[in-house]
Amino acid sequence: MRIVSGIQPTGNLHLGNYLGAIRNWVKMQDEVAAGGGLSLYFLADLHAISMPHDPADLAANTREMVAALVACGIDPDKSVLFNQAQVPAHAELQWLLSGTARMGWLNRMTQWKDKAGKNREGQSVALFTYPVLQAADVLLYQATHVPVGEDQKQHLELARDIAQKFNNDFASEETPVFTLPEPTIPPEAARIMSLRDGSAKMSKSDPSDMSRINLTDDADTIMAKIRKAKTDPEPLPSDKGGLAGRAEAANLIGIYAAMAGESADTVLARFGGQGFGAFKPALGELLVEKLGPITARFRELREDSERLDAVLAKGALKARELAAPTLAATYAALGLVRG
Ligand code: TRP
Repeated sequence: MRIVSGIQPTGNLHLGNYLGAIRNWVKMQDEVAAGGGLSLYFLADLHAISMPHDPADLAANTREMVAALVACGIDPDKSVLFNQAQVPAHAELQWLLSGTARMGWLNRMTQWKDKAGKNREGQSVALFTYPVLQAADVLLYQATHVPVGEDQKQHLELARDIAQKFNNDFASEETPVFTLPEPTIPPEAARIMSLRDGSAKMSKSDPSDMSRINLTDDADTIMAKIRKAKTDPEPLPSDKGGLAGRAEAANLIGIYAAMAGESADTVLARFGGQGFGAFKPALGELLVEKLGPITARFRELREDSERLDAVLAKGALKARELAAPTLAATYAALGLVRG
């Protein structure tokens, strides 16, 4: 098993990032290592330039994301942890695959349509070809499995289409250049909502800091944010069905379940019939207990940019080595002469 996945380097990491993606990466890292496979996780910094951005923020966010990943349990000795910018093979393979990807395929991508909106002409070329770079990211390493959220499934299908067409056009059936990657969408990938509004996703850009639990929050802050989280006046139901139409209650139960590694029904079997006055302190304490070690480590690591740069340098070295054979095979298959 060869796992490859990427994450865009956003700043202000929060509980939603942890429960949505990062925690699953850690789980897969440990499973894959146990099975003798390899996992590669990278910061998609090259993807980040497809939208208007501030260069100083990108650099700071890249280091911050590495700090978060390591604090959450990505172990640079178990996984290959790196950023695309230090592995030129990503950009190179993207160009080589651009000869195979079709305009029509990219035009159908829902992320392109959503992000471009009515102003397609004004978008960067990089936003349009974003999925080709993403295909290069995984094909470069012969990924067998790519853990992603539901929203990235279409990009992974495109990566398979590109791989298939390339193999078809330029390789023999016995010796394909690329492995077709399988997207793996974790069923338990929790969708964490704002603590102030159960219908909005927990987000780094929400103006209210009370809406989210940051990975930098200390125990008192976490307790206070949960205490003040929006709820309704009803007691908790005794099963999941009773959460219908109660978005804020459902969110808090979902957070508890995700952090405890239990189902919502199990949590409700325990707290059903009780009010939030009893449930909130239990949730706050659970968060402090589970997140405490992570937030402490994150606060320490993010100050140590030398250490973070060393982690990235080591990961990049390994990634470059792993990428080389596939990149060479791609050049050769295309008839590109390289001395
Ligand atoms: N596009 C992905 C996202 O926004 C990030 C990403 C870039 C990625 N390259 C990837 C994910 C390769 C999986 C594999 O979440």
